[in-house]
Amino acid sequence: MLEQLDAVVLIGPMGSGKSTVGHRIAQSLDWAFFDTDRWIEDSTGADIPWIFEKEGEAGFRRRETLALETAMNQSRCVVSTGGGIVERPENRDLLKASNACVVYLKAPATVLAGRVGSDPNRPMLQAGNPLEVLENLLARRAPWYLDCSDWALDTDGRSARELACEISQRLTGAV
Ligand code: S3P
Repeated sequence: MLEQLDAVVLIGPMGSGKSTVGHRIAQSLDWAFFDTDRWIEDSTGADIPWIFEKEGEAGFRRRETLALETAMNQSRCVVSTGGGIVERPENRDLLKASNACVVYLKAPATVLAGRVGSDPNRPMLQAGNPLEVLENLLARRAPWYLDCSDWALDTDGRSARELACEISQRLTGAV
């Protein structure tokens, strides 16, 4: 399966482990690693809270689409995305049309809230009670995560190492 793919893309909510798991998969496949949030910060020279403050969520989402387009132009690349990547229809179209394996990392809102709390580096969580925010975001985004992904994996109670191993093994046909 791996030989036919240009990319492995991880999608899912904040706190689902996309960056940690993605980095590990890239190491195990010996592929490049692309984190859309890090790319946005590096290309802007500013952190995400600053971008939200100066440009609003809309400005951040425009940059995020550019990040995803850039990522999808790479080959042999593991891509970790921000939780809101599925918000824009053009991003969803890009994910669905791509020659990538898109994996949805799932977790219940209560587990996500325990992992991320009210992290000041995540502007979406500053809008109120983190659990309620995460529940509302998940209610809207979960159908998009499912629609854009090839597999969904439960992350609750599982380490990043286990998840990365499972994904790498399924991609290389080892299981
Ligand atoms: C966001 C998730 C964040 C980051 C930004 C917006 C969201 O990424 O892209 O703060 O809208 O859910 P993580 O999912 O890596 O935390």
